[in-house]
Order: sequence, then C-alpha cells, then structure tokens
Amino acid sequence: MINKKLSIKTSQKGATIKKEIYGHFSEHLGRCIYNGIYVGEDSDIPNTKGMRNDVVDALKDMGIPVLRWPGGCFADEYHWMNGIGPKESRVKMINTNWGGVTEDNSFGTHEFMELCDQIGCEPYISGNVGSGTVREMSEWIEYMTSDNVSPMTDLRKKNGREKPWHLKYLGIGNENWGCGGFMTPEYYANQYRQFQQFCKNYGDNKLFKVACGPNGGDTAWTDKLMSMLNPMIASAISLHFYTVPTGRWEDKGPATGFDENLYNETIRETQKMEPIIMDHLAVMDRYDPEHKIGLAVDEWGCWYNVEEGTNPGFLYQQNTIRDAIVASINLNIFNRHADRIVMANIAQVVNVLQSVVLTEGSKMLKTPTYYVFRMYKPHQEAALAESVLEDTTADHNGISYTDVSASASVKDDSLFVTLSNANPNESYTINTDIDDAFGSYEARILTGAMGDFNTFDAPDRVFDKAYDGVKLSGKNAEIVLPPCSVVTVSFKK
Ligand code: AHR
Repeated sequence: MINKKLSIKTSQKGATIKKEIYGHFSEHLGRCIYNGIYVGEDSDIPNTKGMRNDVVDALKDMGIPVLRWPGGCFADEYHWMNGIGPKESRVKMINTNWGGVTEDNSFGTHEFMELCDQIGCEPYISGNVGSGTVREMSEWIEYMTSDNVSPMTDLRKKNGREKPWHLKYLGIGNENWGCGGFMTPEYYANQYRQFQQFCKNYGDNKLFKVACGPNGGDTAWTDKLMSMLNPMIASAISLHFYTVPTGRWEDKGPATGFDENLYNETIRETQKMEPIIMDHLAVMDRYDPEHKIGLAVDEWGCWYNVEEGTNPGFLYQQNTIRDAIVASINLNIFNRHADRIVMANIAQVVNVLQSVVLTEGSKMLKTPTYYVFRMYKPHQEAALAESVLEDTTADHNGISYTDVSASASVKDDSLFVTLSNANPNESYTINTDIDDAFGSYEARILTGAMGDFNTFDAPDRVFDKAYDGVKLSGKNAEIVLPPCSVVTVSFKK
C-alpha cells in the first residue's frame, strides 16, 4: 500500500466544467449508425422512429450532452442532400473510407436530429470541406436552422419538418491535414475563412464554429491556423489524439488478451494527452491571450487492432478495464483544463473504437468505458475545484507513468472527486485534505483485472458498485484505490 496526499480547495473555484467535455461521436463507420443506433422502423429490434430503444435508453442514463456526426473521415465525403427526402429515392454512395460498403443514406439529417431529441443532447454537425462546396454547407445550415421563407426551408418543410432545429455546434471540416483533403495549414485556414463566412446565424440560432485543429502534437498546424483566425470567425479549434498502445499504426496491439507490458505502454501513451493539450494551448495563447478561442478534443480514445474475424474497415474493438482507466485519466485531464477545453468527443459511441455501447443483433452491452462516463456525470456543469496530488510517478518494468489521476468539482454544497489508480499491482491510500468539512459521502468503484470485459453472454461482469473503501472525518478522507480501479466520491455537508 502506498500513501499519498491530495489537497482540495473548495474555496478556489475554477472554471465551469462544460458538460460538452463528456461528449460523444457517431460516424457512418462499420456498425456505429446502422445496426448500432439505427435499425429502421420495420426492425424486430424495439425502436422508436428507427432508433434502438435499448441504446437510446443507455445513452440517456449515461448523460450524453453532445453528439458529433456524420464523421470523421466520412464527413468530408458526405453530401447532405443525399440523406433527405423519401428513403426509397435517396442516393446511394460508397463509403470509401470505411470498408467500401454501400451507404444508402437512410440515416440523414432528420434522423440525426431525431436521435439527438430522443437522447436529449446537443447536435454537433461536422461539415464537408474536403469534397464539398461553400454553397452546400451554407445551404445545409439554412435548411436546418432558418425559419424564413427560402428554397431550403421550403425543402425542409416538404420533408416533414416545419420548424427549424436548434444547432449550436458546427465543425468546418475534419482532419483536413489528412483524410479531409491533405491540405496545408495555410490552405485550410483560407478555406475555413471562406466556408465559415457563409454559415449564417438565422434568427436566434447562434453557431459555435469549430475549425479543424491539429493532429496530436502538431503545433506547427496550430501556429499557422491560429495566425489566420480570430474570435469573430472561430469559437474553437479541434484536436484529435488517439491512444495507440504500441505507438505503431501498423500494429497497434489487441483490445483484449494483452499482457502487462502492453497495458503499461497504453497508460504511458494516453498520458501524453496532457502535454499535447498544454503545448497547443501555449501556441494559442500567443494569438489569443484573452482565451476567446477554445480547444475541442473532438476525437479521442483507444485505437487497437480490429477484432479477429471482423471487417478491417469497420474498426470494431472490445473494451476492457484498461479502457476504463484510460477514460478516467483523460476525463480528469479535461476537467483540470476546464478553462480552455470546451468540448471532447470520445470515438465512437457504438460498435467502433472506444465505444460505450456494443451491439450484436438484438443484444446490447455496456462497456467499462460506459460506466466511467456515468460515474463522472456529476462533474458536468460543476465548478472545478483546485486539487493537488502528491507525485505518484512510478516505474513499471522500464515504463514510467503517473499511477494516480484525480480531479474535483463543486456544485451547490457537494464536492465530487474522481480518481483512478492505473497501477496494476499496488494499492494506494489517498489522504485527502479538504479546506472544508463534510458530514457524509457516497462512493462508487469500478475495478477488476486489467483485461476484464463484458460479453454478450456475460454482459454484467464489469460495472460500478457502491464502495466502502473511504473513511471520512470532517476535513479529511482516506480513500483506498485498489490496483486498476476508478473511484468516485461525492461528499455532502
Ligand atoms: O475514428 C476513426 C477516424 O479517425 C475518423 O473518421 C477520423 O477523423 C480519424 O482519423
């Protein structure tokens, strides 16, 4: 057992932790949309207007605040007009990025907005810059958000939607340094400036425009982009950073059946998120010292080799306790940078990379990552509380990382603390010193062997449980963190 100290100052309230940090990402990729979310109204799988009831219920319960769509790489070859109107006459296309399968466009704008309504989340549309036109994007915004008389609003009404939808979040392009067009930052920034100009605010609908930011640690992209943006035309820039255990795209390592060495590499790799964020923020500060432009980590998560026997273009992977630890580490990082991180979207919500839900026919399971998001729900819209943890860096057979991760927030009279212990062998006791006294607490834990996961035959092997490993006396709490665990503690007056 290792003892470490955690000081928390509830009186030092920081930025509000935007609920959008707990965002998700849906893409026309593999079985994410079709089968995973949308089965169509004629399916035997219980559904409401084609959306799976089991998946929608699970996502609502988890507390999903914002959902990005339609991609990813798919977004830059998506032509929205193919996805509206009578389904039988919708144009089919080839999903060239993801398995070359036929996309029948039966899930389009109206279906996505219906999904967001059912879940109760904000839509985040990712517009096509790579192969689309300024006019196409401009008309999409008009179609969705205008209440005026126009060809686009007439078309929307003809398609059964009288009133405009509310749309706040708009991404202008996706990975335009890669699958979105292999552009140089200067070329993209010029494209951005032009595209955004024709995405109008109709009525009281005000767009929050997100420019395509860097790939991982590419600060040169951020530098050039920021030099050509200003807060009048961009609300945020994005960042994509995936955790690839081996660091090698050609052999990323398996999602299950991994050894301790690969586990340790995964933790080390995922902890790169924080220095990457800080490096980009430092560049952004030079151009935007008043911090008017935020950072949206709108793709993150673990990316492993696909499951054996599945379509390599579908990127289907399982999800273990290791993923839960990764989720906890990253969510704690985003919380701690709540002053600048305006959104984060884990990839992808169902049946792809670090998904919270997996489906197989009519069956559905919740992954360990799902439970972390649900456990962390009280952080949404709470005020960050300053927390300082004693250093827990340790060597794991030549692989060094920080074992314990933490963040804290305050809402009303409650203090909410989330912690994880990534060390697969050692327990920690965290002696928490708080600047205020609390009379009671409720704690939960998610733990297991690093490779434990839920299957369709045993869907409840891993889930969070009430935890009694906390001793509270006034301003002090002793929190025991077993190896490979995520613990949340809600302190009440
Ligand atoms: O998440 C899979 C892909 O990863 C996304 O489509 C793309 O944006 C990124 O490269």
